[in-house]
Amino acid sequence: MKKIVITGGAGFIGSHIVDEYVENYPNAKIVVLDKMTYAADIRNVQRHIGNKNFDLIVGDICDLATCEQALEGADLLIHAAAESHVDNSFGNSLVFSQTNVVGTHCLMETCRKLKTPKIIHVSTDEVYGEVLEGEAHEEALLKPTNPYSASKAAAEMVIRGFMQSFNLPVIMIRANNMFGTRQYPEKIIPKFILMLNNDEKLTLHGNGENKRHFLAVRDFTNALMVLTNKGEIGECYNIGTTQEYQNIEMAKMLCGLFDKSEDDYITYVEDRPFNDGRYAVNWDKITALGWKPKISLEEQMPEIIKWYVERAERWAA
Ligand SMILES: NC(=O)c1ccc[n+]([C@@H]2O[C@H](COP(=O)([O-])OP(=O)(O)OC[C@H]3O[C@@H](n4cnc5c(N)ncnc54)[C@H](O)[C@@H]3O)[C@@H](O)[C@H]2O)c1
Repeated sequence: MKKIVITGGAGFIGSHIVDEYVENYPNAKIVVLDKMTYAADIRNVQRHIGNKNFDLIVGDICDLATCEQALEGADLLIHAAAESHVDNSFGNSLVFSQTNVVGTHCLMETCRKLKTPKIIHVSTDEVYGEVLEGEAHEEALLKPTNPYSASKAAAEMVIRGFMQSFNLPVIMIRANNMFGTRQYPEKIIPKFILMLNNDEKLTLHGNGENKRHFLAVRDFTNALMVLTNKGEIGECYNIGTTQEYQNIEMAKMLCGLFDKSEDDYITYVEDRPFNDGRYAVNWDKITALGWKPKISLEEQMPEIIKWYVERAERWAA
């Protein structure tokens, strides 16, 4: 491969994708297209800046000319740019449809025009909606429950239309919640780490019993690599983990690691307008290609805490 374009490459997951592809494709040009919203940080890709095989285009995926500039001559598009925080989507939901749906549409239109040979679209397990029991297979109905997941499901529908009408060569992936360094501290793990580091009390939505699976971001980028090499065009793959925690369990684990009393440091706040009790996917399809998650959240957590604590001033009010 000569050129790989990664949208959202200066954000959390995108920047780990960049690391994985720079390492595995040392002779390819890696181009990041990123609008540099509040969730991005130039330091996430700092180590690659100046490398002749790396290019950062600061621009909006909703702009067709920018998409064309980035994608000209690309062998692979990995589309990870998005508005990604559910809580924000209850407030300003239109920006979610703009970036996640219209932006995806612009990228697909550009790929159609330029005949991009392979596209990997990063979607989410949240498109299946709440899965209280069992797990969702790739063929399950999409039943999103909030403006964020609705915009991600809508993006998938736009892509499906392009796949059917224009044979657009897309691999769709739907992944669990992820953990790792460089995640903007609006999501539960970095948010709670910084709160405890500031000696603030943790605030849990509702009764704190909502469950989430947590997949290591490096397991995810490894899965992407497997799909780049062995994934079947036109197919959808769930990417999951067995590591499942209630929010209250996560809060207790972090209190323990900060040596703070659960009773003193855990409080409850009003729930979101709608808060899915649980998401769960079946990922047998990708295990058949030789991938499985390997990284333990409990083992990684001290390292993640250290990373945030050392950089706490970045997010100080
Ligand atoms: N975080 C998770 O746990 C998780 C789980 C499953 C799937 N996903 C999906 O993975 C992808 C990446 O998520 P993340 O957590 O890294 O998000 P993030 O919010 O950390 O980063 C998103 C990136 O996209 C960029 N961006 C936003 N709008 C843009 C636009 N209009 N044009 C160009 N760039 C734009 C931002 O600047 C940022 O760098 C998203 O598609 C998300 O839906 C995330």
